[in-house]
Amino acid sequence: MSSADQAAKLVKQLEREDWKILHALERNLPAKEDVQPAKMTKTTDLFAEEIEFRLGRLERDGLVMRNPNGYSLVTAGLDAIALNAFANRDLISALGKPIGVGKESDVYEAITEAGVSYAIKFYRIGRASFRAIRRKRSYLAGESPRRWFLMSIEAAKTEYNALRKLVEYSVSVPKVIARERHALLMPRIDGDILVNVAEMNDPRGVLLKILANVRAAYLKAGVINGDLSEYNVIFDGTDVWLIDWPQAVDRSHPNADTLLDRDVLNILRFFKRRFGVESSLEDVSFYVRGWRETPSLL
Ligand SMILES: Nc1ncnc2c1ncn2[C@@H]1O[C@H](COP(=O)(O)OP(=O)(O)OP(=O)(O)O)[C@@H](O)[C@H]1O
Ligand SMILES: [Mg+2]
Repeated sequence: MSSADQAAKLVKQLEREDWKILHALERNLPAKEDVQPAKMTKTTDLFAEEIEFRLGRLERDGLVMRNPNGYSLVTAGLDAIALNAFANRDLISALGKPIGVGKESDVYEAITEAGVSYAIKFYRIGRASFRAIRRKRSYLAGESPRRWFLMSIEAAKTEYNALRKLVEYSVSVPKVIARERHALLMPRIDGDILVNVAEMNDPRGVLLKILANVRAAYLKAGVINGDLSEYNVIFDGTDVWLIDWPQAVDRSHPNADTLLDRDVLNILRFFKRRFGVESSLEDVSFYVRGWRETPSLL
C-alpha cells in the first residue's frame, strides 16, 4: 500500500490525541534532532505514558518512525496531516486512485462530498535517496528525511504561488484550490500528457495554443516554467494545460532567458519530431517575449 493510501485509511480512525502527537512531530521538522516522547508532554498536553503508547501505535500504523534518539514523521504521517487538513476545510472527503507518478511527486484522485473529482499532488522530494537509506538502514550525513519533507513543503508552496499568479492572468494551468503542507489540491484535468498523444488533428494549432500560454505566463504573470516539455502539458483533444511549476522562476531571474528558450525548444522539438511541425526558435522566442505578434510556423 502506498503512503497516501495508508494515510487515507487512517485519517478517519485517528483520535484527537494522535493528531496532537503528529503535529508535535511536524513542528519538529526543522530541528536537527528527533523528538523524545518525554519532551512532548508540554506541546501535546498529554502524559508521558499516553504519548509512549500512542507513538507505539502510530509506529505500527506506519505514520511515524522510531529512531535511536526519538521519533520522527514518515511520509505517510505527513500525508495524513495534509489529508486531514483538506478534509477539515471540507475540501475533500476521500482519496481515490493514483493518477500519475512523477519522479518527485505522487498524484492522486480526490473526491468531494458532492462527488466531484479533484487531483492531489503530494511532493516526494528525495524519494530516491529515501529508498537508499531504507536499504542501508542508516542516515547519510546531512540528508535527513526531515529536510526532504521541508523541501517538499517548499516545492508545494512555490508551485501553489506560481499557479495562483498564472490563474490570475488567465494562463491555462490547473486552477489550484488549496495547499496543505507538501500537497496541492487542484481540479482534475481529463486529458493526456502530450508524450502519450499519438495523433492530433491540428498539431500546429495545439502548438500555437501552448506558445500563447508560455507567452502570457512570461509577459503577463512574469513567470517561466523552467521544466516545460511534452511531459508537462496536458491535452484533452481541444485545450492544453501547462502543469508542474515547482521550479518556476520569475522573469527577473538571472537565468530567465536560458530557461525560457529551453522550455520553448523542448516543445518545438517535440512537435517537429512527432508531428513534423517546422518552426524557428528565433521567431518563436521573439514571439514569447512579446517582440513580435505572431510566431511563424510552417
Ligand atoms: N491536475 C491534474 N489533473 C490530472 N492529472 C494530473 C494533474 N496534475 C498532474 N497530473 C498527472 O500527474 C503526473 C505528474 O504530475 P507532475 O508533472 O505535476 O509531477 P512531477 O512529479 O513533476 O512529474 P515529473 O517529475 O515526472 O515531471 C502528470 O504527468 C499527469 O499525468
Ligand atoms: Mg511532470
